[in-house]
Amino acid sequence: MLYDDNPTLVGIDKKIDEARQGEALFWEEQTPGAERRKRFYIESYGCQMNFSDSEIVASVLAAEGFAPTRILEESDLILINTCSIREKAEETVRKRLRIFDQVKRKRPGVLVGVLGCMAERLKKKFLEEEKLVDIVVGPDAYRDLPALVAGAEEGEKGINVFLSREETYADISPLRLDGNGVSAFISIMRGCDNMCSFCVVPYTRGRERSRDAFSIVAEATELFERGYREVTLLGQNVDSYKWLNPETEKTVSFAELLEMTALVHPDLRVRFSTSHPKDMTDEVLHTMARHENICKYIHLPVQSGNSRVLGLMNRTYDREWYLGRIEAIERILPGCAISSDIITGFCTETEAEHQDTLSMMQRANYSMSYMFAYSERPGTPAAKKYADDVPEEVKKRRLNEVIRLQNQISLRHNQADIGKTFKVLIEGDSKRSELEFKGRNTQNKVVVFPKAPGLAPGSYAQVRIHTVTGATLIGEIVA
Ligand code: 5AD
Ligand code: SF4
Repeated sequence: MLYDDNPTLVGIDKKIDEARQGEALFWEEQTPGAERRKRFYIESYGCQMNFSDSEIVASVLAAEGFAPTRILEESDLILINTCSIREKAEETVRKRLRIFDQVKRKRPGVLVGVLGCMAERLKKKFLEEEKLVDIVVGPDAYRDLPALVAGAEEGEKGINVFLSREETYADISPLRLDGNGVSAFISIMRGCDNMCSFCVVPYTRGRERSRDAFSIVAEATELFERGYREVTLLGQNVDSYKWLNPETEKTVSFAELLEMTALVHPDLRVRFSTSHPKDMTDEVLHTMARHENICKYIHLPVQSGNSRVLGLMNRTYDREWYLGRIEAIERILPGCAISSDIITGFCTETEAEHQDTLSMMQRANYSMSYMFAYSERPGTPAAKKYADDVPEEVKKRRLNEVIRLQNQISLRHNQADIGKTFKVLIEGDSKRSELEFKGRNTQNKVVVFPKAPGLAPGSYAQVRIHTVTGATLIGEIVA
């Protein structure tokens, strides 16, 4: 999964784990009569799937009469949607729980619920370790939240960490929280069957299952009608999306789903994340080539550039296979941007193997990467089978080398865009100035340019690039 939609290329972990601290999600518009209802506050950490799940949780609670609040001290129910991917993500959640504890002391009766991957990983242990937590709910049990809250109001500790083989929340229309009104995530599948040896996700999110394709297209259509202009189809491994249509008994593949979504409207941009190199087919690439509105950007995590390490990681491809996929993208989709996830210091990784990762980054010419030092997760195959034997300072040094190189490659990648004109979907004001808009081009690069009359978030503009940084393209509107 992508772990942030606008990364800076340094301190990625910090950004994921800390930048969102205290960032509550709340309604696009306040619901009428909200002030009289019980209020909930929800904070999300980790991947986009978690942010998307929080919108499902909000929808489930709203149907039961709860109203949202962005003010922690005002809430009757505090929820935290958690991430277990690295140890640091879990530490951040525990820090937040200390803050919630203070709120609870001031306002007895406030309930605290832990959602998501940490809830699933720690289960009952959470209630034992963290006395202030009243409710623990895993990613497949959000429909049960109102009942668990009702029980907790009566003083019972509530827990549901049942992992389902069917739940996709297909019928729940997510309440879009805190969005820009232009781009939205649509969850198309849940869980993961891949078993990468370092990864806790298959244990916290369960088996892979695909959501009804028509419910996905209906959600995209509804979003378009409400003014949204970009949807990102989300799944741990979108290329293995496979939904059996019970009426025709035919399966819908990811390439077909992509096409169905692209056909909603030519002005609706379609993105997706995450692709797995072992499953990404040429059919998907050809589908992308056929539709201008399917964005020319692929997040294709390599994890390591060395075949032996990839084997230990159980990624089920090697360096040559990955290079073959890069060549296919370059052949079928010239100009398509590629990004990656990279782990440094995985068990037994040597200096020479680390160099293979650096050379892979050069060859793949990633527009950007999410980069991490390996963090052993309890219960994963790597934790059971291999010694976490690369010293912490070596992991960090390799991580810094990877980050430094990616910064150079990103800058070079962006410099190649100087003088080009891009179609940019406007998302809102730039961070720096109300006189500038910020948007993205098809390659998912952030583009900043001076405002012009008649343009607003959700409109497209043709922008010619004159200046770049490692993270941003700066330009001017052309007629
Ligand atoms: N340690 C470090 N990084 C990890 N990732 C997943 N598990 C771990 C771990 N144990 C990274 C991978 C994955 C991204 C979402 O997080 O790069 O693609
Ligand atoms: Fe984890 Fe691998 Fe599944 Fe991604 S594909 S969620 S890294 S097991």
